[in-house]
Amino acid sequence: MVNTLQKPKLKELHPNIQSTAKETLLTPRFYTTDFEALAKMDISINEEELKAILEEFRTDYNRYHFIRRGEFSQTWDHFDEDTRKLFVEFLERSCTAEFSGFLLYKELGRRLKNKNPILAECFLLMSRDEARHAGFLNKALSDFNMTLDLGFLTKSRSYTFFQPKFIFYATYLSEKIGYWRYITIYRHLENNPENKIYPIFNFFENWCQDENRHGDFFDAIMKANPEILNDWKARLWCRFFLLSVFATMYFNDTQRSDFYSAIGLNARDYDKHVIEKTNEVAGRVFPVILNLKDPKFYERLEICVSNNAKLREIDSSEQHYTLKFLRKLPILVSNASQLLKLYLINPINTEHLQGNIR
Ligand SMILES: [Fe+2]
Ligand SMILES: [Fe+2]
Repeated sequence: MVNTLQKPKLKELHPNIQSTAKETLLTPRFYTTDFEALAKMDISINEEELKAILEEFRTDYNRYHFIRRGEFSQTWDHFDEDTRKLFVEFLERSCTAEFSGFLLYKELGRRLKNKNPILAECFLLMSRDEARHAGFLNKALSDFNMTLDLGFLTKSRSYTFFQPKFIFYATYLSEKIGYWRYITIYRHLENNPENKIYPIFNFFENWCQDENRHGDFFDAIMKANPEILNDWKARLWCRFFLLSVFATMYFNDTQRSDFYSAIGLNARDYDKHVIEKTNEVAGRVFPVILNLKDPKFYERLEICVSNNAKLREIDSSEQHYTLKFLRKLPILVSNASQLLKLYLINPINTEHLQGNIR
């Protein structure tokens, strides 16, 4: 679950090590929602599936998975400074995203406790998983002499409010894209073990199954509310969320392509694979998916990628704020126009792919 402007403090365990990450619009964000509306939600038409998912959560397949064994008991001082920075940033962003999922699910579980017990327990058990993931990543940060101050985040978090249906679209995609991100890295390293330069990747196979189950929960909850999937507004919003999630990931990862190179991956190829798979899977629940085959799709994203590089360059210059703003304005307009054109690419209708609940 992603994304906040409010980020936890990255604490140094050793005084001469600095945080690598800066605040940007693309850093993880936190969500809140209308808890009353969620509590009143009728899930009866898909209750059986939701109960089956709850049973899976209760089974807790990964109870003993996240245990650091011998492979971590060595130093990582042989990493050069650049690789170390890339790793710290990767771990920090992943930990923040996992922790943001934990906070949202925990709060949902708590607020729905006496009103919608099936959903409440599902949310609590998902928050258990996300806390485990965040904790494991934070422990990994300590291998690089860093730690995230998650207590700071809990106290000073600021939220973006989303109606429940938007939380469903966004978290569904975030869980499914998380699954594809983890499994793609895992499979790549399985085939190219020489690139496995840090043991956290060994945990990704079982880990991503948690994310897949979380995604399935949101799939089931949306199918329990077919009215949020089957009208013209749903089509427009699903397109919007698909594009937002894919574009954000593409911008983030291309900006950090050195991290992917460090583990033998090409950031663009990796993202294209993850986007294609997530888009395809989303077709099982969303009424539309994006037409990624349109040659303009990645062409327009690439224009934004180079625009973003120019924006960063202007930001880091010593010029006056007004001058910076004037230089940035045409680039921001170009980005907005590219994203609008991307949004207007004809989507693919998927209603024929879905089950009979709709
Ligand atoms: Fe997670
Ligand atoms: Fe998750």
